Amino acid sequence: PATAQAATGGHRTVTVAHRGAPTHAPENTLASIDEAHRRGSRWVENDVQRTKDGQLIVLHDTTLNRTTDVEKVFPDRAPWKVADFTLKEIKKLDAGSWFSAKFTGERVPTLKQYMNAVTHNHQRLLLELKSPELYPGIELQVLSELRHQGWLDRAHVKNRLIVQSFNGDAVKTVHLLRPDIKTGFLGNPTVAELPGYARFCDQINPSYTVTTPEYIRAVHALRGPHGRPMEVYTWTVDNTATAVKLAGSGADGVISNTADTIRAALRES
Ligand code: G3P
Ligand code: CA
Repeated sequence: PATAQAATGGHRTVTVAHRGAPTHAPENTLASIDEAHRRGSRWVENDVQRTKDGQLIVLHDTTLNRTTDVEKVFPDRAPWKVADFTLKEIKKLDAGSWFSAKFTGERVPTLKQYMNAVTHNHQRLLLELKSPELYPGIELQVLSELRHQGWLDRAHVKNRLIVQSFNGDAVKTVHLLRPDIKTGFLGNPTVAELPGYARFCDQINPSYTVTTPEYIRAVHALRGPHGRPMEVYTWTVDNTATAVKLAGSGADGVISNTADTIRAALRES
C-alpha cells in the first residue's frame, strides 16, 4: 500500500514520489515516473510550465540548463529560459545524459506525454503549476489538457488528482474554474491566514522544516472548500526518521525524492 497507518494509530500518510524517482532516473522525465512506478509509487509529483509557442511541458527549473544539454545545443541563448524556446527546440535537447549516460536521449516530456504515461501506469498525480506568473492563462490551459486526457472525470478528480502551486492566485483560479478539483497551496501561511486559504485550498503544503505538530493541528482544525478537514502534504522528506516523525504528528502526505524507502519506513514504524 502507498499509505502508512501504523505510525499514527490509524492516520494515513500518503507518500508522493517527488519528480518521479530522481535518485534513480532524470527528474520529471517519463523514465523517472516509470521507475517510480516500478518501485511501487502510486502518487507522483511533477512541475508544469509552458514553451514559447504555448505548449505545456514538464520541467522543474524555469531555465533549461541544469537538466538538459541546452548550453551545448544553443550556446548563444543564455539564460536559456523555458519561455524563450519552442517545443521543437526543446525536443532537440537531451534531458538524460546530465544524470547518467544510461539515460542519453531522454527528452523533456510534454504534459500530454506525461499524462499518457501516468494513465498507463495507473498512477495518481500531484501536479504543480511551476511559476505560473510567467505563463498567463496556464491554469485554464492545464485544465483543458487534463480534460482531454480524461483526468477531469469524476473518478479521477475524486481519487487521482491534486493541483498545487506556490502561487496562491493560481491555486484560487484553478479552484474557481473547477471547484471539484482538490487543490494545495505550497507554503506556510500563518495560522491567522489559514482561514483565507481554506476557501479555495484543500491542502497546505509546507517545507518539512517548518511543519510542526502544532501547525498540522491548526490546519486540520479547518475545513476546506469540500467540507473536509484540510490536509498537510510536506516536502521534501528524504530522511526516514523525519518521515516517521511527521507521520506521527499527523502529516497527511510526505513528498519525497526517495519514496520507496520512505514508504517502507512508514509501513514498518
Ligand atoms: O511538491 C513540493 C515541492 O516540489 C516543492 O518544491 O522546488 O521541488 O518544486 P520544488
Ligand atoms: Ca515541485
